[in-house]
Amino acid sequence: MKIDRAVIVAAGRGTRFLPVTRSIPKEMLPLVNKPLIQYAVEEVVESGIGRVVIVTAPGKQSLAGYFSPSPELESFLKEKGKVELLGEVQRLGRLADIRYVIQEEPLGLGHAVLTACDAVGGEPFALLLPDDIIDSRVPVLGQMMDVFDRYQTNIMAVERISQEETGKYGIINPREVSHHLYQVLGLVEKPEPREAASRLGVVGRYILMPAVFDAIAATSPGTGGEVQLTDALGLLLAKQDIYALEFEGVRYDTGTPQGWLEAQLSFALKNPELGRALRQYMERLLQI
Ligand code: G1P
Repeated sequence: MKIDRAVIVAAGRGTRFLPVTRSIPKEMLPLVNKPLIQYAVEEVVESGIGRVVIVTAPGKQSLAGYFSPSPELESFLKEKGKVELLGEVQRLGRLADIRYVIQEEPLGLGHAVLTACDAVGGEPFALLLPDDIIDSRVPVLGQMMDVFDRYQTNIMAVERISQEETGKYGIINPREVSHHLYQVLGLVEKPEPREAASRLGVVGRYILMPAVFDAIAATSPGTGGEVQLTDALGLLLAKQDIYALEFEGVRYDTGTPQGWLEAQLSFALKNPELGRALRQYMERLLQI
């Protein structure tokens, strides 16, 4: 089995980023000069996947517009001789075969994934939550696909988090298989620190078998009254194995202002055009 399709869930209401998310979907917030969603699509493409299903919500049309061809802008850039920008705009339109499905009501991550069922078909697929931006040498999805090639079953990405933060993540009960690879024995969505089975928190990258859709359909609303993907994966464990990879890379939770700003600074400092001047500016700023 090979992975040739990915689902990107961009259906959240962005409440942690109000008021800007009243009119700009949070996935369209920039990280340096590209919107967050573009990083997710590029990670998919760099991992060798060409078909993408983006799950959005009502009122998030600007997401779809971003990846569609824009003949007017292209001829304007051509006329002005802005060859590099023209290339970048054209590349966006051809990045991947992107389809959109709409989650009409905010009923949870599990429900959002289920919305993509028909578009995915009965094949294993990658799932990305674009809030989690991961800076890594090899795209995290690519790292996970190597594990998938070996095990041919569900794979999730995990990261070691601090004890106080367990209430923000799905937490796995792990059995170590090899260096940085675990078999998942159980998983709980956002447990209290004293109830957490480990400090391995789920990060927004998954490779899932199509059986996950039946598991989601059989899952009742959980934490926050929402249909949780974590609970569905707990049900799936009765039928299929799940492995968790502690990936190589640095993750930023750009769904919060703090995480978004940290990502902003760290990506901008590495940017060849901006990094040097920004570092000098920050040194001046922090001396005050
Ligand atoms: C979701 C998942 C959670 C996971 C997290 C990673 O939670 O439900 O299991 O740990 O993404 O970002 P959310 O952050 O949407 O509340």
